[in-house]
Amino acid sequence: MLGSLVLLWLGFCLLFFLFRLRRPKNFPPGPWPVPILGNLLQLNLVNPINDLKKLSERYGQVYSLYIGSRPAVVLNGLQAMKEALVTRSVDFSGRHQDLMLNHITGSKGVIMADFGPSWREHRRFALMTLRNFGLGKQSMEDRILGETSHVSSCLERSAGQSMDPQHLFHNATSNIICSIIFGSRYEYEDENFQAIITMMEETLKIANGPWAMLYDSMTLLRSLPLPFQKAFQNYHNVREHVLGIVTQHEQTRVARVTRDLTDCYLNEMEKRGASDSSFDKGQMIILLLDLFFAGTDTTSNTLRTALLYLMTHPDVQERCQKEIDEVLGETAEASFEDRHSMPYTQAMIHEAQRVANTVPLSVFHATTKDTQLMGYDIPKGTLIIPNLSSVLNEESQWKFPHDFNPSNFLNDKGEFVKPEAFMPFSVGPRMCLGEGLARMELFLILVTLLHRFQFIWPEDGGVPDYTPVFGITQAPKPYKLGLADRLNTAQWPEQGQAAGERNTTSSDEEGEPVPKKGKTDKQRHIEMLLYREDGEKEDQGADSKDEMNDYLQDRNMIQDR
Ligand code: HEM
Repeated sequence: MLGSLVLLWLGFCLLFFLFRLRRPKNFPPGPWPVPILGNLLQLNLVNPINDLKKLSERYGQVYSLYIGSRPAVVLNGLQAMKEALVTRSVDFSGRHQDLMLNHITGSKGVIMADFGPSWREHRRFALMTLRNFGLGKQSMEDRILGETSHVSSCLERSAGQSMDPQHLFHNATSNIICSIIFGSRYEYEDENFQAIITMMEETLKIANGPWAMLYDSMTLLRSLPLPFQKAFQNYHNVREHVLGIVTQHEQTRVARVTRDLTDCYLNEMEKRGASDSSFDKGQMIILLLDLFFAGTDTTSNTLRTALLYLMTHPDVQERCQKEIDEVLGETAEASFEDRHSMPYTQAMIHEAQRVANTVPLSVFHATTKDTQLMGYDIPKGTLIIPNLSSVLNEESQWKFPHDFNPSNFLNDKGEFVKPEAFMPFSVGPRMCLGEGLARMELFLILVTLLHRFQFIWPEDGGVPDYTPVFGITQAPKPYKLGLADRLNTAQWPEQGQAAGERNTTSSDEEGEPVPKKGKTDKQRHIEMLLYREDGEKEDQGADSKDEMNDYLQDRNMIQDR
């Protein structure tokens, strides 16, 4: 008996020794991994954000973890994020090529494509096309305002009552991106559209959940009939649908007329010819799907978070409405230019984005070569997890890191300022290419709706729960949106009935700590350039200058508007 126990113990030790995971030399420190599973058992797979925070308190701003047997480096806080994604941008701008999302998309398009010519060309194409379609010009505003009027009509029908806003906002943001890429919108009741939205939601849910984590960390499980297979099936179905739209475009194209991004891509393919070009139909379908997926959930989750906080912070809502009324007067629709006259509303929208923390761990990066970070050595191909959540809540960077308070974006003169820790879109050459579109959507939709409606926490809404549902894209928990037409006072609740008044945390600015001096976009822009110059001393090569130029051009494109 004792002999078998000893043998078993020896066998276990041998297995442990054979499969043990050893950190490379001078790799960032981290918790001790077990063979095969790595540190998975030390993380809450449903929402690892708190665990990541605790690890950072123990190991510092840069530490490592094993996802299964794969080493990963987690970046926490502004300093680490800037050094990796801005100063050493080229080294940290890859994408790991062996994750579920790579296998689903074949690493084509932009989001999951590795750092290289095809990614660069497709990113530039998408940015240029968004710009040419009037990002910052009238036509993009028209598309957004047009969709907003459909949202208003739907909300109008619920005025005086409450409703679940999830599908409405999902449909609206999805329609805005559809009108840009496919030139058409869908009726909210359209069965095909609903089927696609449902498949998208289901796919994201799987990609966000523990099944994707298991797929990514244990190669042996990948071919088994486990729930992640559904994500592959759904993506295949949505791809078939998009292929149908592209075929229709090919059949109805007219020379020199570009109706949408699909037409632009077909023109570009023709212009480049077949040889030596990264532009082909396979890439096109995935690029279209990238924009569709990335542009829907992110913006709609942020909108829903903003409305949740507005309902429960009636003082903030009232101050925004006062400012909006003063600027718009009788005009029903806002214009993006109006943001310059609405510092408080701008601050509220940015604060909503900060607390929404919509893409908490960004999209995972990978190192493109052997590199260094904060004194540690990081080999080529290491998985990098930029914990954006840690920057958006970093105590040293925000006046009110743990509250919903627009004062986080106001200086002592009440002017709008954007602290450099505001990075919900990430930073560096890989930063969100839809930032301009998203910002325009958030502003136009929220301002138009606040001008028209009063949002009220409904009587039957229970106690507001701000805990988000974690995922690649994080969402607020489902809630009921109460609303009244601002012109129809009969729909308003009794004085003091809005639950927000019962549950609000005050955003009163009096007695605040002395505000940290904010920086203008221009100052931060110059700072980025200066970082770059510092970084260049460490010889990042010509490629890196190219990436930085692209990055700064993108920033210009977004900020000049
Ligand atoms: C509030 C809304 C949004 C947020 C918070 C957001 C956030 C992000 C983040 C954090 C990333 C990862 C950046 C990185 O890897 O460092 C990203 C990437 C991306 N986003 Fe967004 N996004 C939003 C809206 C949009 C929209 C509307 C579009 C579509 C036009 C879009 C298209 C993309 C694409 C294509 C990428 C991949 C960029 C690349 O890999 O080069 N996003 N986004």
